[in-house]
Amino acid sequence: MCGIVGYIGTKKAVPVLINGLLSLEYRGYDSAGLAVLNNDNSLKIVKDMGRVKKLQDNSELESLTGSIGIAHTRWATRGMPSKINSHPHTDNNNTFTVVHNGIIENYDELKSFIEKKGYALHSETDTELIPNLIHYFYNKNTKKGVLFAVTEALKKLEGSYALEITSPLLKDEIIVVKKDSPVVIGVGKNENYIASDIPAILSYTKDFYFMEDYEIAEVKKDSITFYNYDLNIIEKEIKNIEWDAIASEKNGYDDYMLKEIYEQPTAIRETIGTSFNKEGNINLPLNSLDVNKYNKIYIVACGTAMHAGIATKYIFEKFTQIPCEVDMASEFRYRNPLINEKTLCIFISQSGETADTIAALKLAKKSGSTTLSIVNVIGSSITRISDFVLYTHAGPEIAVASTKAYTCQVTLLTILALFISEKLGLSNTADFEKLKNDLNQLPDKIKYILDNCDKVKNIANQIYQDKNMFFIGRINDYAVAMEGSLKVKEITYIHSEAYAAGELKHGPIALIEDGVSVIGIITNPSISSKTLSNLDEVVTRGANIILISNQDIDINSSNINEESIVKIPDCSSLISPVLSVIPLQLLAYHIAKCKKLDVDKPRNLAKSVTVE
Ligand code: M6R
Repeated sequence: MCGIVGYIGTKKAVPVLINGLLSLEYRGYDSAGLAVLNNDNSLKIVKDMGRVKKLQDNSELESLTGSIGIAHTRWATRGMPSKINSHPHTDNNNTFTVVHNGIIENYDELKSFIEKKGYALHSETDTELIPNLIHYFYNKNTKKGVLFAVTEALKKLEGSYALEITSPLLKDEIIVVKKDSPVVIGVGKNENYIASDIPAILSYTKDFYFMEDYEIAEVKKDSITFYNYDLNIIEKEIKNIEWDAIASEKNGYDDYMLKEIYEQPTAIRETIGTSFNKEGNINLPLNSLDVNKYNKIYIVACGTAMHAGIATKYIFEKFTQIPCEVDMASEFRYRNPLINEKTLCIFISQSGETADTIAALKLAKKSGSTTLSIVNVIGSSITRISDFVLYTHAGPEIAVASTKAYTCQVTLLTILALFISEKLGLSNTADFEKLKNDLNQLPDKIKYILDNCDKVKNIANQIYQDKNMFFIGRINDYAVAMEGSLKVKEITYIHSEAYAAGELKHGPIALIEDGVSVIGIITNPSISSKTLSNLDEVVTRGANIILISNQDIDINSSNINEESIVKIPDCSSLISPVLSVIPLQLLAYHIAKCKKLDVDKPRNLAKSVTVE
């Protein structure tokens, strides 16, 4: 999704802006641009399609010497990727220059409004409306000043936006606005920074203001003033972020994704460590959560985060005895779900900024349900809206394909289910104790898988030219199949499908022919023979089987070649997704490397999906 960076201070703005854009590359984009207010008060814009590197090499940047600048990476929504559609955009008189993350939904109405007022739009973007609207309102009532014109323009906008506004009229400030799209302000000494995401400016400061919806900031080099849309001043608190800037760099790994895969033992250890006290008892910051009042649990999220929900649904049902449903946020928000004050709605999000998840969360709040969110990014939008928040301690996840966030989410959801179970007085069972013990062993077992994963690389070498793949499993092995299949789709561009193993013969088996790879996941001893039979059914139709399992598979009777079996350490089948997903993450990674693809920035994808 689009990325925003801004700088105001005493240094040259361009290097800071370019660094920030480079750090935001993982969000996904197709064009990049920036605008700098030079010391002679002239505003210069450089922008184009393509990578930030191309912008960085553009010789026109040499004439941008000022210390006030705004920058943007664009992920096309309205209007194709092109130079003219790239940000920044200015009004017809080149007075106001804007970068925008989000979507203006009443584009048609505003386009005809502004055209009737004599303005012409040159790009296909919705963003270009904004500087023109500001100009119109400024011209109409110049005496009231720029900030007033901005608020008048904002009142006309429907949709989502994080905006940076600069102008020769604003000699020593940048105006920042937020509604439904993320933006943070980093506080420095005699300089301040703006970004849509913390990592973009983490190497400059650890002190941040998190802007809320309907807030405006007047950012000068030595002060930041916040207003609401009525231009009343708002007091806000600076938050200190402990993330290490180095932790969000590659640290010797070829790619962020690989680094993040290898960080999983530490990330899970941290997530567990912060959820238990010294005596080994679960200790979550949920004192006022009245667990007795719920007759339904909903887990709502998107993509990988939703898969974490599916993988743990069974744990919630088994240990809390409360029915649990998992839903995609994009569906939940529009399907009038049956939720009320007796529903506990759990939202999962790595970024805490996913537009659909935020909308689903707002809907749940409106219905009177309790909202509890599991989020990785501290201070993100979801954490500020939810009744309760639990943090995964995965650290910054930069690669578009989520890995360590997923395993931390599964771990924390499991701890949450056990916490509720304990509070309900249902924890006095051997299964409860076993799961608690197994949780603590996860970091070492993941490390074992990572230290012994050569087989996965060999398998990737053999199948990377495949055109189709199937991932199958039952119960939570099926949840992992979905996640493995998503990883393959995202970064290898191979078409892959995940199926509940028992469903294959109800249709998809028609697609099995010689050489099609079918990846089976088997971690539950009580049903392993069932999935094995399903694998035998596809072997006889020519499929190439790869098996991820913690069971001792009898190779002779199952027709599966030893080299294609990836053995993972044993653990309770309930928590096995945290282990069985690791070889699948690596498989997708190595296939993408064999195909020489950019694993961290797959085509068409964005890290934070901040539009609907
Ligand atoms: O930041 P979120 O966890 O809310 O993001 C949700 C999905 O967009 C995300 O998990 C996506 O599916 C990943 N690219 C998967 O690797």
